[in-house]
Amino acid sequence: MRTAFFFALSLRFALANPLAWHGMHVLERRDTAPSSFVKIGPAPPDQVLTLRLGLVQGDMGGLEERLATISSPSSPEFRQWLSKEEVEAFVAPKPDTVDAITSFLSTNGITSTPTTPARDLISITVTVEQANGLFGTQFDTFRHTETGGETVRTLEYSVPAALKGHIEFVHPTTTFPQTLARLPIATIPIPRDIAPSNTTTGPHAVPSSCASVVTPDCLEALYNLPATNATETSNTLGVSGYIGEYANQADLTAFLGSLRPDLPPNTTFALETLDGGSNPQGINQAGIEANLDIQYTVGVASGVPTIFYGVGSDNQDGLFGFLDLANHLLAQENPPHVLTTSYGANEADVSVPLYQNLCAAYMQLAARGISVLYASGDGGVAGSQSTNCTTFLPTFPSGCPYVTSVGATTGVPEVAAELSAGGFSNVFVRPFYQNIVVPEYLSALGDTNAGLYNQSGRAYPDIAAVGENVEIAWQGQFGLVGGTSCSSPIFASAIALLNDLLIAKGQKPLGFLNPFLYETGKITLNDISSGSNPGCGTNGFPARVGWDPVTGLGTPNFAALRAAIGV
Ligand SMILES: *[C@@H]1O[C@H](CO)[C@@H](O)[C@H](O)[C@H]1NC(C)=O
Ligand SMILES: *[C@@H]1O[C@H](CO)[C@@H](O)[C@H](O)[C@H]1NC(C)=O
Ligand SMILES: *[C@@H]1O[C@H](CO)[C@@H](O)[C@H](O)[C@H]1NC(C)=O
Ligand SMILES: *[C@@H]1O[C@H](CO)[C@@H](O)[C@H](O)[C@H]1NC(C)=O
Ligand SMILES: *[C@@H]1O[C@H](CO)[C@@H](O)[C@H](O)[C@H]1NC(C)=O
Repeated sequence: MRTAFFFALSLRFALANPLAWHGMHVLERRDTAPSSFVKIGPAPPDQVLTLRLGLVQGDMGGLEERLATISSPSSPEFRQWLSKEEVEAFVAPKPDTVDAITSFLSTNGITSTPTTPARDLISITVTVEQANGLFGTQFDTFRHTETGGETVRTLEYSVPAALKGHIEFVHPTTTFPQTLARLPIATIPIPRDIAPSNTTTGPHAVPSSCASVVTPDCLEALYNLPATNATETSNTLGVSGYIGEYANQADLTAFLGSLRPDLPPNTTFALETLDGGSNPQGINQAGIEANLDIQYTVGVASGVPTIFYGVGSDNQDGLFGFLDLANHLLAQENPPHVLTTSYGANEADVSVPLYQNLCAAYMQLAARGISVLYASGDGGVAGSQSTNCTTFLPTFPSGCPYVTSVGATTGVPEVAAELSAGGFSNVFVRPFYQNIVVPEYLSALGDTNAGLYNQSGRAYPDIAAVGENVEIAWQGQFGLVGGTSCSSPIFASAIALLNDLLIAKGQKPLGFLNPFLYETGKITLNDISSGSNPGCGTNGFPARVGWDPVTGLGTPNFAALRAAIGV
């Protein structure tokens, strides 16, 4: 502690004296590698590593405050979303941070490259030998027991005490590669001709078939969604794709031809790729998840320009490419107004500093006026997928307060789907917009599940939509899928259709949804008050009147949302 104080006062003196660097501060450590990795031995000293350094961001408290103002319906500055430059001004590291990092690197003869416009994330390329010296550690080679793949990691690393308070993390270090869950859980092929079926357009009574097979027509009926074409070409809806999931145009065309005969069957979507991603169109390469996500955006958000983000496997962010995509969008002048993602993991499996950095990126997207929706997960209280557990497993990244987490319902009338992941983050605290409804729920819940979840954490999901028996076209056939993977693109489409109306009137898009939804949800959403999400040997949480950790505030009522927005 004494040395840290000293260095903070006199950085340059410290630099002049190499001994002074011996005061090292442990930044991250773990006891063991994940069970799927075995250590082989020290990494070759001349092996080259590309490391990312997360610098302490300048004024995230200021950005948080600003965002609370511009996302609150009662504020005169409601929806006055910030520009790219305004956000970057909050995020850019303070000069003393930049100085400390620059001195540290240049003293060691290392140059860095910023990887975000705000320059809060920088990249360095060093040998293992250099990295061992810089971070007071020993990088080892680990082998994955199933794939045999080798990876260089360490169980603990440090930075000079003078950098304490200036650096959040170095990656990749203690975070091991892991697989991402795609969420849809079942495919039941159903026979259907690729000929147009009878569909009604616009608001109408819910057809009885919707209890067993959900189509876009059912969603129009359930949620009052318009079938008329959106008009605004500047209004965009983003769909993210990971782990080699490809969205197939031929399947989309078959889907539209059969289930949205009122839309041109050749309606297409734009493609953006990063981290070596692509979207090949061989029919056997079509992915269930990607097809679901693109069919329930293009096929529900009628006429809204849709972009598929193909994130490849070259992602080095330690978070499956989620952070790379967030930074990719933050670097754009006109990112999509809505982003929906149907992939996730368990919170306990991701690095906390990286998760915090990702959540800060979502805060920035929120401040830019972008609605970031995530499927909440499919394991009920057991997390991302059903698993054995002794305490409830919160999912990632639904615990981030700046995403809108979407749970699942089933049936007509809708009840909570048992698979719907919901609960409380162990990383992020309850955000201001949950201060009324979550304590209400907890007090009604009483002792049920006591000790199995974290009452003070950010609670999720925020909202819900249908997530079982959803019909998709895949590799030339029709079938049913289930999971919150269905729910997120469906809700995102409703938001995109509302944005079309807002933009047509010269107004700002809905942007960060949560404060608005928590204020207006009682009238703008269909409250789902029965069902539960069992798991970990319990009945899970019960759905109740008002918010609950199974279906959140409820499912969309487009007409009521439209009225609340005044368009
Ligand atoms: C479509 O609906 C019309 C009128 O309700 C009916 O006559 C026709 O048989 C239906 N077509 C199919 C393919 O179900
Ligand atoms: C939407 O626009 C397309 C042309 O882009 C047209 O073919 C289609 O009939 C329109 N659909 C509706 C429901 O207005
Ligand atoms: C879809 O087909 C119509 C009619 O064949 C054509 O005019 C239009 O350009 C096509 N649109 C796309 C996106 O290919
Ligand atoms: C839970 O553990 C039991 C007994 O080991 C096993 O049979 C079951 O398949 C496991 N369930 C899940 C969801 O992993
Ligand atoms: C509970 O959540 C809070 C954040 O709200 C966190 O600081 C705390 O560590 C969590 N407790 C456990 C046991 O994970």
